[in-house]
Amino acid sequence: MGEFVVRGGRRLEGTLKVHGAKNAALPIMAASVLASGPVELKDVPKLRDVDVMIQVLQSLGASVKWSGPSLIIDPSDIHQYVIPEELMMKMRASIFVIGPLLAKLGHAVAIQPGGCSIGDRPIDIHIYGFSQLGAKVAETDQGTRLDGPRLRAGTVHLSYPSVGATENLMMAAALIPGETRIRNAAMEPEIVDLAQFLEKMGAVVRGAGTPDIRVIGKTELKGTSHTVIPDRIEAATYMLATAATAGHVMLENCIIEHLPGLTGRLRDLGVELTEREGDRVEVQAPNAYPTTPVSLHTGPYPGFATDMQAQFMAFLLKVPGVHIISERVFENRLGHARELRRMGAQIMADQRIALIYGGRPLHPSTVRALDLRAGAALVIAGLMTEGETVISDRDVIERGYQDLDLQLAELGADITGR
Ligand code: EPZ
Repeated sequence: MGEFVVRGGRRLEGTLKVHGAKNAALPIMAASVLASGPVELKDVPKLRDVDVMIQVLQSLGASVKWSGPSLIIDPSDIHQYVIPEELMMKMRASIFVIGPLLAKLGHAVAIQPGGCSIGDRPIDIHIYGFSQLGAKVAETDQGTRLDGPRLRAGTVHLSYPSVGATENLMMAAALIPGETRIRNAAMEPEIVDLAQFLEKMGAVVRGAGTPDIRVIGKTELKGTSHTVIPDRIEAATYMLATAATAGHVMLENCIIEHLPGLTGRLRDLGVELTEREGDRVEVQAPNAYPTTPVSLHTGPYPGFATDMQAQFMAFLLKVPGVHIISERVFENRLGHARELRRMGAQIMADQRIALIYGGRPLHPSTVRALDLRAGAALVIAGLMTEGETVISDRDVIERGYQDLDLQLAELGADITGR
């Protein structure tokens, strides 16, 4: 499990390179199943979740290996279509291989991925979409079995703009001849990155980044090479850590357009964000914040991303005023409020709404990372608090942050992993 020890009260200053996006790499790794030859992926972050996806692909028969900074996936020998239960339970994103397996092998079996601390996370929208493309769905004691030896192109209207369901259906559609249309699709930048990858393999994808995506699939998709987009959530996390410590940081490999819900709010509070050439963003935080009540709710892109909500709550503890956060994507993603209260934060929260009294002093404590973003929020709280804060379940945080301690230490933070 391990823990991070943070001795806070220091400004973050310096330059930091943002890694490739976990939430782009995972679906694109799954999409490599569709190819008839090897795929080379660059800027894939070295994370626990990526390791699990490598194990999933290997369990299906693919050969996967690191070659320097590149990940090489050869799906030619994929023959297995049942995802091992222990891997499904380890990481929900394993569900991303269902669409490619169904399209390539005509069958796929997955147990309902375990819910996690932030919610039940059902896969009904994924299953509904596949049934609309002709898949037969059966609940067996092995799990949800999907059979579709002959999937057909069609139109799927998603009841909610689910990121994973959109990606899963795009991947299946890429190997179904004809035009498949996905309505009420998710619009996240990771969807656009996946679309670019599918096009490099030979599919035609129109409308990625809008609610109306059309995929013209092929009977065969070729191997290709692709560089994953920067991780906007990692960038947001370091931006908020800088804002919380009166810091001055240059973020490299950061696309500011991917943070529409955050940049305006930080600028309104007095954080200077300056775009520099070559995908760099300079972050200059004020020493203190004026009393400014902030209210926000999370939502699908381009709304305020739920994956930044916990980190933003920690930052708001620095801003005097009474703030409201409404978490509208997941039903239970405010657990970090309880952990922040252990550091003296004045926050009232139920499962969906939090009331935050910002600008009050915090004290160090021992706290627990409930999910990877909640853990990142606790690290930010530790950075802005004099004394030694211990954050346990470090491995949860490392599912989504490569070298978090080393990166922050580079910026002058006193943080060690043990
Ligand atoms: C992706 O998860 C991300 N994960 C999540 O990031 C992110 O929080 C989420 O999108 C929302 O942006 C990856 O990309 C690997 P959804 P996903 O399907 O696809 C409900 C992180 O911190 N829903 O858009 O699972 C669901 O329960 C992770 O990096 C259904 O009801 O998210 C949730 O309430 C956490 N039925 C809402 O929709 C379904 O079939 C959004 O889920 C699917 C989803």
